[in-house]
Amino acid sequence: MKICISLGTRPEIIKMSSVIRECARRKLDYFILHTNQHYSKNLDEIFFKELDLPKPKYNLNIGSGTHGEQTGRMLIEIEKVFLKEKPDVVLVQGDTNTVLASALAAAKLHIKVGHVEAGLRSYFREMPEEINRVLADHCSDFLFAPTKNAESILIGEGIPKEKVFVTGNTVVDAVRQNLELAGKKSRILEKLGLDKSGYFLITTHRPENVDKKERLAGILEGLNLVYKRFNLPVIYPIHPRTAKMVETFKLKIPAGTRVVEPVGYLDFLNLERNAKLVLTDSGGIQEEVCILRVPCVTLRGNTERPETLEVGGNILAGADPGKILKSAERMFTKNKKWKNPFGDGRAGERIVEYILRNGKR
Ligand code: UD1
Ligand code: UDP
Repeated sequence: MKICISLGTRPEIIKMSSVIRECARRKLDYFILHTNQHYSKNLDEIFFKELDLPKPKYNLNIGSGTHGEQTGRMLIEIEKVFLKEKPDVVLVQGDTNTVLASALAAAKLHIKVGHVEAGLRSYFREMPEEINRVLADHCSDFLFAPTKNAESILIGEGIPKEKVFVTGNTVVDAVRQNLELAGKKSRILEKLGLDKSGYFLITTHRPENVDKKERLAGILEGLNLVYKRFNLPVIYPIHPRTAKMVETFKLKIPAGTRVVEPVGYLDFLNLERNAKLVLTDSGGIQEEVCILRVPCVTLRGNTERPETLEVGGNILAGADPGKILKSAERMFTKNKKWKNPFGDGRAGERIVEYILRNGKR
């Protein structure tokens, strides 16, 4: 059986790493197709190196663009690879344009599609990822739901139960497989002069936040209030999309907030683990800090990760400065005894095992 692992962005590389490792460990016939939706070294190459992943067999060099342009170019190029390689199964992870294009190209060629992290819903259709998730789920043959909640969402949408398999989230695999190494290798705290539990960590990149001047300004003002209240540095590894928009809107980074370039996975895990509190609009980071038992303030009005709210590790604040401050105050003293709702760190093994049993054409 031939397996194609299709990916294109930072979180897909991280969350597919355990699946790739399992394919390699079992010496399967597999290859990696990289759309290069992310191409900057610190969003792409660094993760292949740190996670010790094999080089992709195909780099499609798609890069950035409008949604139609980017997804369309991907469809054209991915189809060529599938026609040549004729994989039995294509695995995709998450909800990016890479996922939609890969799933659609495969489904139209009657190649089986396995969707890792199926069944997440924000019920917010303005979010580009929400469209990608729904469409990818509905053209997949194997839906690897990370939680029971995701499974019931899929069944509720009419997807036959036999297609859905609850595996846990591969993000737990990634955290478990890299945390010790991060502790040994990362010097990021020393480099930035930070004390354990002596700083806040923030990331933003959702278009609903960073492409809108008012919301991005609201978040920055929120950081200002948080710094004034707690007097702890706020570390901001800034996504290129956000960096570009801060400049376009001519916004000022508030005192106490330190913007740094995006960092590698080992440094980021260390920053997350030792933060007093994390503020983010990222999906993967909501999950990771929940696993690491670090309180989270989500800079959105909704989340497709309700499990993080249910266990008490996360709170929704949106982009209003006053609400960000209030939420940070609430989470600052949070009791950190919640349970990790995302599984046992063996999702990658389960996914590969399932594909081997059910994936042959
Ligand atoms: C994409 C995904 C999002 C995911 C995120 C992970 C979609 C619709 N969005 O968002 O789901 O959460 O990746 O980080 O698929 N840029 C660079 N270097 C790069 C890549 C991008 O500088 O390597 C800049 C470009 O200016 C580009 C902008 O970032 O226009 C946005 O990139 P894009 O891939 O379109 O979306 P992301 O915001 O990264
Ligand atoms: N991450 C990283 N360096 C950074 C910021 C994030 O390694 O500077 C990792 C983080 O640990 C998580 C993933 O990138 O695993 C999240 O990616 P992102 O927030 O870009 O996307 P999302 O999860 O929202 O799709």
